[in-house]
Amino acid sequence: MEGLNMKYHSFTSVVSLSLLLLLCSTTTTCKAQLSSTFYDSTCPTALSTIQTSINAAISQETRMAASLIRLHFHDCFVQGCDASILLNDTATITSEKAALQNVNSIRGENVIEDAKAQVESVCPGVVSCADILAVAARDASVAVGGPSWTVMLGRRDSTTANLAEANSDLPLFTNTLQELIDNFSNKGLNARDMVALSGSHTIGQAQCFTFRDRIYNATNINATFASNLRNGCPQSGGNSNLAPLDTVTPNAFDNNYFTNLVEQKGLLASDQVLFSGGETDSIVNEYITTASTFNSDFASAMVKMGNIEPTTGSAGEIRRICSAVN
Ligand code: HEM
Ligand SMILES: *[C@@H]1O[C@H](CO)[C@@H](O)[C@H](O)[C@H]1NC(C)=O
Ligand SMILES: *[C@@H]1O[C@H](CO)[C@@H](O)[C@H](O)[C@H]1NC(C)=O
Ligand SMILES: *[C@@H]1O[C@H](CO)[C@@H](O)[C@H](O)[C@H]1NC(C)=O
Ligand SMILES: *[C@@H]1O[C@H](CO)[C@@H](O)[C@H](O)[C@H]1NC(C)=O
Repeated sequence: MEGLNMKYHSFTSVVSLSLLLLLCSTTTTCKAQLSSTFYDSTCPTALSTIQTSINAAISQETRMAASLIRLHFHDCFVQGCDASILLNDTATITSEKAALQNVNSIRGENVIEDAKAQVESVCPGVVSCADILAVAARDASVAVGGPSWTVMLGRRDSTTANLAEANSDLPLFTNTLQELIDNFSNKGLNARDMVALSGSHTIGQAQCFTFRDRIYNATNINATFASNLRNGCPQSGGNSNLAPLDTVTPNAFDNNYFTNLVEQKGLLASDQVLFSGGETDSIVNEYITTASTFNSDFASAMVKMGNIEPTTGSAGEIRRICSAVN
């Protein structure tokens, strides 16, 4: 009996050991699973504290919802979702904020820093900045009428940033459809995820330099739409002048972004390529016909994006403040 027990015991040990090896074999750091209940015992008020803080910031400025969703995206595409985007320049860290896709463009770092300070005051040293970014993105979506989802938790914060990877891995408004598909595929996201996630351009703003070429030179653009935009975006100068990514309903998270594309009223070239006779046209049409499909696809794609290369276990750290390593 004892022998059997021993055998059984060592059998389960072997099984769990090989499971562990399986999870650790593909990458240098083990890929532990994120969990929706990660802070349930260590910081039960974490999520409500974050939400209160995020809602207050968005009620001050609606655009902040857009900025926070984008911040999580730009975090996850560089070294995975590890809050690397929030680190400032120091003697040893070259900030990702200097990347072409981030400079004078990412917003909301202070909102995350404030939420972090609130969470630190209830549970010091427990909740990562990377998780706060993920929760803030969900709360931002909900605050402007977008879908909700269960946020997976347990990411840890990086002790490094990677400017080169920010420059190479964050998509550009000049990318072709195939390049966008490839760039997302490199992060484990398929074309459908890419189209759904681009739907967050239903809110927020873009600067003149990102759509100038399109409104002066493109042929696949509605003439009235282009002409109206030229008023606020001169041929030279006014680089940082803003225009809403969704002209029709700029502050509501809805599926109108996709209707704009079919009417050739995508603001960025990278928006319009999603409806340009290619393989993603049918997805755009589907999201126009069935808003609920867009909402559920967006929610699943956000969870998937939030799962890119998470730092877990004993790797990384829980930062005390989000803009600097401990
Ligand atoms: C498909 C490739 C994408 C490209 C090329 C792209 C490009 C851009 C550009 C150029 C801007 C304007 C930035 C500025 O002028 O300062 C912008 C804004 C924005 N992007 Fe994207 N984006 C892409 C995908 C995404 C994804 C996947 C998300 C989120 C899941 C996202 C969320 C946003 C939001 C919410 C804004 C508005 C930000 C604000 O108002 O502060 N984008 N994007
Ligand atoms: C995206 O993909 C293209 C090729 O598929 C590649 O040239 C480019 O460097 C990638 N990244 C960015 C930011 O464009
Ligand atoms: C329009 O395209 C031409 C040729 O590529 C380019 O030289 C010019 O700068 C573009 N105009 C704008 C406003 O981007
Ligand atoms: C362009 O948009 C305007 C309204 O914004 C519309 O009246 C017009 O019919 C559109 N033009 C084309 C060619 O679809
Ligand atoms: C990081 O930079 C921001 C913006 O300049 C600043 O507000 C913040 O205090 C900086 N953080 C640290 C730790 O210096």
